Amino acid sequence: MGALGQFAEAGHGYYFFPKLEGEISNRMKFRGRDMLVWSLNNYLGLANHPEVRKADADAAAKYGMASPMGARMMSGQTIYHEQLERELADFEHKEAAYLLNFGYMGMVSIIDSMIDRHDVVVYDSDAHACILDGLRMHIGKRFVYPHNNMEKFEQQLKHAKKVTEQSGGGILVITEGVYGMAGDCGNLRGILQFKDQYGFRLLIDDAHGFGTMGRTGAGTSEDQDVMDQVDVYFGTFAKAMAGIGAFVASEKRIIKSLAYNMRSQIYAKSLPMPMVIGSLKRIELIRNHPEIKDKLWIIANALQNGLKAKGFDLGRTQSPVTPVYFKGGVGEATQIVADLRENYAIFCSVVVYPVVPKGVIMLRLIPTAAHTLEDVEYTVNSFSEVKQKLDEGKFSTGGVPLLGEAF
Ligand SMILES: Cc1ncc(COP(=O)(O)O)c(C=O)c1O
Repeated sequence: MGALGQFAEAGHGYYFFPKLEGEISNRMKFRGRDMLVWSLNNYLGLANHPEVRKADADAAAKYGMASPMGARMMSGQTIYHEQLERELADFEHKEAAYLLNFGYMGMVSIIDSMIDRHDVVVYDSDAHACILDGLRMHIGKRFVYPHNNMEKFEQQLKHAKKVTEQSGGGILVITEGVYGMAGDCGNLRGILQFKDQYGFRLLIDDAHGFGTMGRTGAGTSEDQDVMDQVDVYFGTFAKAMAGIGAFVASEKRIIKSLAYNMRSQIYAKSLPMPMVIGSLKRIELIRNHPEIKDKLWIIANALQNGLKAKGFDLGRTQSPVTPVYFKGGVGEATQIVADLRENYAIFCSVVVYPVVPKGVIMLRLIPTAAHTLEDVEYTVNSFSEVKQKLDEGKFSTGGVPLLGEAF
């Protein structure tokens, strides 16, 4: 059953596959009760923005969900797909962009079509599953470096260079912008200092940075002032854009090559029209209403500063992603989460081994522009009470509470 599946009997419907109901917001229903929700990547609160809802609904009424039929290359091309690509390219200061149906599949395909067996990939050890799965298809060499370790990164570049000197291929470096679990950023500036010497291309997965980081929300590369040096920028609509789909932005000839070679797009149906037209509205709001991102950061800073002031360990986050680390095993983790949900009506996600080391529990909070400072204060105080119970050994029975629905 696997690392998590072994707990399916006890945890299904509660810890895994929980049903959050109602409009997407800071407050939703879980098992019939109102909860303060901190587990949705709806960073900018756009999921329920009235203009977004209207744009989505109007486009669905006009075009339905079927349109356009077919893959982009064959029969799924529209002026709206092209317009959205132009706007995304413009927002990212790139020559061109191309839409992807899902970020996960898109990234797998970007990697698959950008490299062949002569090329070498150098990538960060904390890379997201979509990067690792893209690399599984690569039959050439790959070298991993420990997360953000620039000394080891250079060593791996040296190995990569040796290989490409023989093979005649190129080097592709892959990192995330914001690491979605720990919330820290890829060291883009550090990576780029080696670019001239080793002559690589840089691809960044900025799923969590797009819309949240940088002066205009263009992402981690804007935040680190290196937009022009990132060769290929990837963002998803699944987080700050509160939608579905993704995009890749780069120079024209790379985008053309991707459009003609990415198997996840050539052999799959085009993004539906409501999502494309709805995304145009979302981009317009991100560009014209910087106060939305400012509000996200007001909430994120208040939450992180409030928790730190109470002595919580938030690790190395540099983004709105707010991991809160506790010591304990799966037994304690499940009881902390149950206590938060049942006694404080706070819903957040929990991460245990193997995503974090054994003996560590991570509760992951995602602040959004839809939260309030009262939500923050209540949560910080509730976390303090729960931590006190943990320290007093009240959760030390070690058992997994049976709160799920049998699978
Ligand atoms: C870093 C990262 N890359 C890619 C993805 C995949 O995006 P999507 O949900 O659009 O498939 C995610 C989302 O979970 C992510 O966190």
